[in-house]
This record gives sequence, C-alpha cells and structure tokens, in this order.
Amino acid sequence: METITISTNGESVPRDEIQGLVAGLPSEENWDGSPLYFYKGVWYPAFAIRGAISFQQHFIARDTDIILASMPKSGTTWLKALTFSVVNRNIYSPTETPLLTTLPHDLVPFFEVDLYAKHQLPDLEQLPSPRIFSSHSHYETLPPSIRGSGCKIVYICRNPLDQLVSAFHFFHKFKGENVKPLSSIDDDFDNVCRGIRSFGPFWDSVLGYWKASLERPDKVLFLKYEDLKDDITFNLKKLAEFLGIPFTDKEEKDGVIEEISKLCSFDNLRNLEVNRTGVRPLGTPNSAFFRKAKVGDWCDDLTPSMAERFLKIVEEKLAGSGLSFKVSE
Ligand code: A3P
Repeated sequence: METITISTNGESVPRDEIQGLVAGLPSEENWDGSPLYFYKGVWYPAFAIRGAISFQQHFIARDTDIILASMPKSGTTWLKALTFSVVNRNIYSPTETPLLTTLPHDLVPFFEVDLYAKHQLPDLEQLPSPRIFSSHSHYETLPPSIRGSGCKIVYICRNPLDQLVSAFHFFHKFKGENVKPLSSIDDDFDNVCRGIRSFGPFWDSVLGYWKASLERPDKVLFLKYEDLKDDITFNLKKLAEFLGIPFTDKEEKDGVIEEISKLCSFDNLRNLEVNRTGVRPLGTPNSAFFRKAKVGDWCDDLTPSMAERFLKIVEEKLAGSGLSFKVSE
C-alpha cells in the first residue's frame, strides 16, 4: 500500500485515506454550491483542500524564502508583480522582464491551488533561492517550518467591502460544470457574515497576520491595498527594505522605483496581451484578475444596510486590534 502524504497529526497515511480525511472535515456550501471544508480554522474551497493539507504537512521552508499571503481578491496579483520585480531587479530590465509575457500568478505560484494541488509532494528543492511563493492560508495554518524559519512573509489586506465585492465578481465569472450561477451577493450574504467563504473567515485571516506583524516585524510585513494605491513609492521602498534589499541612492536617482511601479500598475498589467487573452490551467481567464482596481467600488454592489451589517461584524471581530480600513477614496 502507498504510504505517503497526508495526516492531521503529521504521520504518513495511505493515499486512499486522503479522501476519507477530507470527507470527515466539517463542510458548508460555497456560493456556487460546491463544498467548503473547514481545516485548521480556514474554510477551503473544494479545489484547494487537498493542496492545503499537503502543503501544511509537508512544506519545508528555507530562510531565504519569501511568502506572499492574502485573502483572495485583496491585491495578490499586484503584490506578486511588485515583489517579483523588486527581487529580480538586477536580473531583468523592465523591457525584458517575464512579467511582460507571464501572468504574475504563474511566476509566483500558490501553494494550495498550484504547487500542492498539481502534485502531492512537489519537488521545490530544485528552485533557486530566493524562492517566492504565495498562500491564502491563515498565519496559524502555515506549516511550522514557515513560522519557525527565517523566511519573510508579506501579507496584503484590503478593506472587507471591496474584497467581498471583488470576490463576488471573480466567482461570477466562473462557469464550471455543475456550478450554480451566482446572480447576486444576497444569495450567500448570511454565510459571508458568518465568515463562511473561500479562505475565510476574513477577520481571522487578517488578524493572524496583523498580530504576527506586530510581534515579529522583521518576519511579517502587513500591507494594505489602499495604502499602496495612495503611495506606491513609499510602499515599494518599505517592501524592499523588509526583504533586505533596499533601493540604493543610485537606484532611486535612476528612477528604478518609478519603473517598477509603472510596470506593475493596473493599467499596464491589464493591457498586456498575456493578461488580456491568456487562460489559467483550471480555465480562469487571466483577465479575471484585473477588473476595476478602485477603492470604494463596493458602493455599486452592496446596499448601505448590507455594508453596515458586514462592517459592524468585522469591526467587532477586530475590536482592540488597532486595525482599521479605508473604505472609500
Ligand atoms: P477589483 O475586482 O476590485 O477590480 P487579487 O489579485 O488578490 O485576486 O485581487 C484582485 C483585485 O486586485 C481586483 O480588484 C483587481 O482589479 C485588482 N488588481 C489587479 N492588479 C492590480 C494592480 N496592478 N494594481 C491595483 N489593483 C490591481
């Protein structure tokens, strides 16, 4: 019998027991009718649960790794493009960078939905340092070796209303087989308010990384989408410093920061051929990652009472944390 992969206690279990393990997890229905599984405090969508468990059990971090973390639809694509550019700025010029021909998600893969979903034990040892990965798991759910090693974690969060609306539009674009069409945010708003959403609860994701960033500022950098929109130069410098590769005076004088911010800007990335016409392996069009990129766009899709209800819940959950959000321009 094959004896690799997953267990809840760290022991290897036969492959055919994995299904049983997943089947034993608490589950709820996602927006599209597919199951969400509750594993170690996170609601994982069906397409991510196996990858999430395998990642949690098996990933071994290097001190040089960079992990980009987020709730979906919080600016992950942007953070990937920015980080890739900062890290590789001495390797690729802005006219040669792979970002011009590759979706940022294909340059910085997700653990749960790319690497460990495609292979239960992907060979990541061959990758040169610094490796850049990304995750939608919560801080507490990360494999022990990430929390225990010297690797760096950058978390991007977005105000809960825009994140919710952005997620709604993203899922609305999915037209997979046996998937319920999602016509309105109201369809599932009660579940959203209970935190039952892909990679939620929102507040647990945000709070875990927020607290970790306060306790270990050298280890976890907490960024806000709205702050990046306000001042990308300041935040790019912060990112580079955090990663231990600050921009030199010469680079600043030569306009390297401006080059990176322009390259990774919404308008530039969105209009690249690869991001207009490409399709991800599971069928998601690359263009789905680029919609409006506005702060306060939730106004078009949430009624004032829905926004008030959801914000109140989030505020109660985050009470005393010192964390707040900008919800309009
Ligand atoms: P909207 O749906 O509000 O437009 P993620 O990358 O985590 O999936 O988040 C997607 C959101 O980030 C979308 O928000 C998308 O438009 C926005 N986005 C994508 N690329 C961006 C960029 N380069 N700059 C700013 N926002 C970007």
